[in-house]
Order: sequence, then C-alpha cells, then structure tokens
Amino acid sequence: MTDKIPLLIDTDPGVDDALALLMAFNDPNHELVGLTIAAGNVGLDHTVRNALKLCEVAGREDVPVYAGCADPLLHPAVDAAHVHGRDGFGDIGFEPASRSVEAEHAALAILRLSHRHAGKLLLVALGPLTNIAVALKLDPTLPQRIARFVVMGGAVSAHGNITAAAEFNIAFDPEAAHIVFQGFPHIDLADWEAVIAHGFLHGRAEQWLQADSPRARFYDRISLQTRNWSADRRGDHWHSADALAMAYALQPQGAQELLDRPVAVELAGTLTRGATVVDWNRQEGRPDNATLLMRYDQARFESLIQAALAAG
Ligand code: BDR
Ligand code: CA
Repeated sequence: MTDKIPLLIDTDPGVDDALALLMAFNDPNHELVGLTIAAGNVGLDHTVRNALKLCEVAGREDVPVYAGCADPLLHPAVDAAHVHGRDGFGDIGFEPASRSVEAEHAALAILRLSHRHAGKLLLVALGPLTNIAVALKLDPTLPQRIARFVVMGGAVSAHGNITAAAEFNIAFDPEAAHIVFQGFPHIDLADWEAVIAHGFLHGRAEQWLQADSPRARFYDRISLQTRNWSADRRGDHWHSADALAMAYALQPQGAQELLDRPVAVELAGTLTRGATVVDWNRQEGRPDNATLLMRYDQARFESLIQAALAAG
C-alpha cells in the first residue's frame, strides 16, 4: 500500500512535455500510473514514439503508455513541428525504444485508471484535450472520480501563442477543450501567459543540462533546436509551458497567486476560435470552473527542473 498520490498524464511529447515528464518521474510524492498520448505538437505516431523513448532513457519502462486519438474531434489542425522538430524531439535521429505501446486506447485507460484510483487521481493534461473529451463523452461521471485536474492551456487575457488570441493546446482542438471545460466542474489552469511570466535564462538551463545524467544528456540533444528557435524569437528567456504546469501539479504549495473565474472556450470566432474567454467580472452568471495560476515561486520551479535533469 502506498500513500503516494496516483498521477496520470495526458501528453503530446514535445520538448516541453518531456521536461514535465522528467519532473514527474523524479517526484517522490506521486506514483505515475500511466501516460496517455495525444496528437498535437506532432502526429500521434511520433508523440507515442517519443513517450516510449523518454521512459526508456529515464529507466521508467514500468510506466504504461497508451495511444489516444490521432486527430482533433472535428477539424484538422496544424501541428507545432516548427517549434519541436518534425519528430517532436528535435530531429536528433534517436533509435526507437524497444518497448511497444499498450493495446488499450488512451480514453479507455483514463476511465479505467479513474476507477482504480477513484477519489485520489491527479490528472494532468499537457496537450490538446481530445483524449479527455472522448473519455468524458464515454462516461460523463469521470470528473467525480478525479481528485484534481491540472491543464496546461489557454491564454487568460487572449495573448495567444498560435493565433493572436489562442494558445496551441486549446486551438488545436477547440471542440475537445469546450467539452472538457464544460464537463469538469473544476480545472486548475496553467495558461500560456503564466508561462511567459515564468521564463528562465538560457544560460541557466545550459548549466542544468551539463548534469552528468543520461536524462540531461538526452534532454540537451532533443531541446537544442527549440532552444535556438526560442532564443531567436523570444530573447534571453526560455519558456517551458508544460514544465510550469507540472510544477503547479506536483507542488501546488508553490503557487503565489491564484484566481477563481468562469472560463469558456470560443468555438465560432473568425479571429478568436480556440480562445479561452475568462469572465473576469463574473458578468454572465456562470460558476467559477477554473483556478488560474497567476504567479508561481520561480526558485521552486527552477529547482524542480534542475533536480529532474540531474536525476539518475
Ligand atoms: C503548449 O503547446 C505545446 O506546443 C506545448 O507542448 C505546450 O503544451 C504551449 O502552448
Ligand atoms: Ca504539450
């Protein structure tokens, strides 16, 4: 019997997803019960392959990996290969992992694990919300069994990163995000604007990547392309969206400012499709369904990353 918190991560690795997963692998207070894999940053075949490889590099082949939906629910979407590399892991040409993906579909695994760990499960979504939306449609009682749900997604004052108003994970599958934001009574949200407020210096990240560990060596290689892209576009600071969400998930006590508000997803806008609309003044009578992470302890965040990279 373990008193660790069971943790299930839905993810589309992805360079920042990989850092978040290393943080989860390294956490002593959570038991990682599975990775369910979404399409997003790149196609599902790559995101599955990347998840399996990262588990292998980190010696975490005990963590089952489940493949999910290959496409958004309704409309095709453009991936983020320009940020993460064509294969999602910086195009370094790694040997595939020897292990294969589980036979069970991700949406079914989410439901099964929600029953096995009912009332205790921490669910963290680091990619488009397609798998979780499908799970919800199959069984709308899913939220009743989730203790806490953390989502990386959205842009709370419409400073988007993939369009002017929308953040990538929500914009990739807005219908799925809409289903999830309507179906879950409460979401802990780490949005893109929080990510921009919690960058860290490239020079510091390079120091962390010098750690004498297979994890740091692998991460140094897969992140090089995106670090260069980021330095060209965004200057001195590197931003790791999924790592911030994971810090908030693993150590919520590091949050220094949180706000509860109603949040809904725009589906129809010609300029704003995929935007997360926050009712800041609570004008529309909807209940608060999200806690927005506004500020997180930067030193704690950075030390979690550093420790995850150095772990053996
Ligand atoms: C989110 O989009 C993806 O590209 C990243 O992995 C992260 O989950 C940031 O907008
Ligand atoms: Ca991601």
